[in-house]
Amino acid sequence: MSEGIERLRRCIAGFTRLVETAPDEPRALEEGARLLADLVAVDDWLPPECAVPDRERYQQYLLHCDPLERFSVVSFVWGPGQATPIHDHGVWGLIGMLRGAELSHDWDLAAGRRTGTTRLEPGMVAAVSPRIGDVHQVENAFGDRSSISIHVYGANIGAVARRVFRETGAAVPFVSGYTNATVPNLWDRSAAVRAGLPDRA
Ligand code: FE2
Repeated sequence: MSEGIERLRRCIAGFTRLVETAPDEPRALEEGARLLADLVAVDDWLPPECAVPDRERYQQYLLHCDPLERFSVVSFVWGPGQATPIHDHGVWGLIGMLRGAELSHDWDLAAGRRTGTTRLEPGMVAAVSPRIGDVHQVENAFGDRSSISIHVYGANIGAVARRVFRETGAAVPFVSGYTNATVPNLWDRSAAVRAGLPDRA
């Protein structure tokens, strides 16, 4: 039977337990990657309203933010051919590919050039952080269809003051925000609870 949204609730619970232990960054990335890999292993749970592309630019749907802003979970929806500017994050981040494929280009701003490209296919997880490499540009690998990746960051990422960069290395202040004004209701478990109730006399 499909787990559906339970898979996302389990991932959120796992990250909540993880941040409760105040992990250092390597452990947050290592253990978090396993949690995110479980989430993107099956593509049957993302609420449809958080999978809608836009003609003009990529979308960032907040799925959950930890009440203490220790982590956030975001659905990135790439329309055909859409890409980010070159940007940093300032905190650890994990990218799990759910649908389609994307290309992540690492940048050496001092040299003014790309230093490598990683292609993410469904089920794959990649990491970014100021320690291991924090400046990249991401694009949909497809020019004719949407792609979706699920990101987890070590902060309320939509409210983090960070930077986008010109190819010359010039930095511009950037706060991403979120596409959605309300988050999906992940917590209505009533159907499952009712199904477990004994029949009424
Ligand atoms: Fe990024």
